[in-house]
Amino acid sequence: MDKPNWLKEAEETLIRYCGEFSPILVEKAQGSFIYTRDGKRILDFTSGQMCSVFGHNHQKIIEAMKMATEESIHLLSTMLSPAVIELSKQLVDMLPEGLDKAIFVNTGSESNEVAIRMAKLASEGFEIVGFLGSWHGMTAGSQSSTYSQTRKGYGPVIPGNLSIPAPYAYRCPIKHCQNKCDNSCLEMGMGMVDQQSVGAYAACIIEPVLSAAGIVELSPEYLKRLKELCDERGLYLILDEAQTAFGRLGVNFGFESLETQPDFLTLSKTLGGGLPLAATVTNKEIEEDCFSKGFINITSHISDPLPARVGLAMIDILLNEKMAENAETQGNYLKKQLLQLQQEYECIGDVRGRGLLLGVEIVRDRESREPDIELGHRISDTCLEMGLSMNIVRVKGMGGVFRIAPPLSISREEIDMGIEILRKAIGKSLA
Ligand SMILES: Cc1ncc(COP(=O)(O)O)c(C=O)c1O
Repeated sequence: MDKPNWLKEAEETLIRYCGEFSPILVEKAQGSFIYTRDGKRILDFTSGQMCSVFGHNHQKIIEAMKMATEESIHLLSTMLSPAVIELSKQLVDMLPEGLDKAIFVNTGSESNEVAIRMAKLASEGFEIVGFLGSWHGMTAGSQSSTYSQTRKGYGPVIPGNLSIPAPYAYRCPIKHCQNKCDNSCLEMGMGMVDQQSVGAYAACIIEPVLSAAGIVELSPEYLKRLKELCDERGLYLILDEAQTAFGRLGVNFGFESLETQPDFLTLSKTLGGGLPLAATVTNKEIEEDCFSKGFINITSHISDPLPARVGLAMIDILLNEKMAENAETQGNYLKKQLLQLQQEYECIGDVRGRGLLLGVEIVRDRESREPDIELGHRISDTCLEMGLSMNIVRVKGMGGVFRIAPPLSISREEIDMGIEILRKAIGKSLA
């Protein structure tokens, strides 16, 4: 397909940072839809980059931004505003004891960076354990714990990063079990990490559902055992809830249904609802220890008042518009429809996930489970042409997995519309 003129023009001055740019020019976004310059309406099954969790341009977010423009947008990094104090209070009030103190930065990478830096300072170690297939960000520390497609070609990562296999039950990483993980990969992984460690453990960083790895869910038993193994070794547990918090999984925070509390909780993407706001939350003891050791984490936009106002609006929407309940109800409905599609199409190898974070894995056939990445791309491209934006994991070896994460405000009619487009797009792509 010929590139449109606007794209050719754009490429004259923009650095291409993720392969090709999307072939549509978006002029407006509202609720569950984005609108292109040439007049197309596209249903957004990815909530932007998984951030517009309550729909695009929610009225309360707009009002919060307006309010901030009448108060203050930005301040000296050591200065506080009422919005930041109120946000930390409201956030901590929603969390259990042990997640008592928050810091507000901008991106997910940064929130993980803060957690990693604090864990290093508090533990006086430096080794960070992470999952193969994970994604924690693009800054040096979070990138070093990211084991997706971003490692090659950028030189050394920070020393002391060790990995364990993710419990990807559909494709057991140690070829041991199938469809239901029995935690053998965890015991084996930690055993391998112990042999590689130089005896300076600091933290283990994980997501409750690995998203970039293709929607790999941790079970409560898995997480409980992981926490035990971490505690035995003096590893702080950092739970990265960039994608899973704020109702996405049918609960306010993903860890609530997993019954294990982390030492650090990092929130990003969903906290700002489309604006750059992220937080790291930890307990009083770690905060006090780091403070006594002279903890410094100054960035230009730390504690900025404008995104904090938006964060307050997000909490308001989450609690008063029953977003977690909606994710549960609509997620169950959407999953049922996807399972129905699986009955119709052999190329859907697996449907997994919960709430409104669902994965659909595209394979050549169910017997071999061989990933069909090409077909996945064709389906994704056809969906976009037909008015549905779908996000596919394009990593070799992980299969072509659609990550379906529509806004939690999505209606049943919109889900039906999305499923109908997907059904037709699969049919057309197979023809
Ligand atoms: C789980 C997770 N953590 C961290 C990040 C990094 O967030 P950001 O891109 O805001 O730095 C991402 C981004 O996709 C993510 O999915």
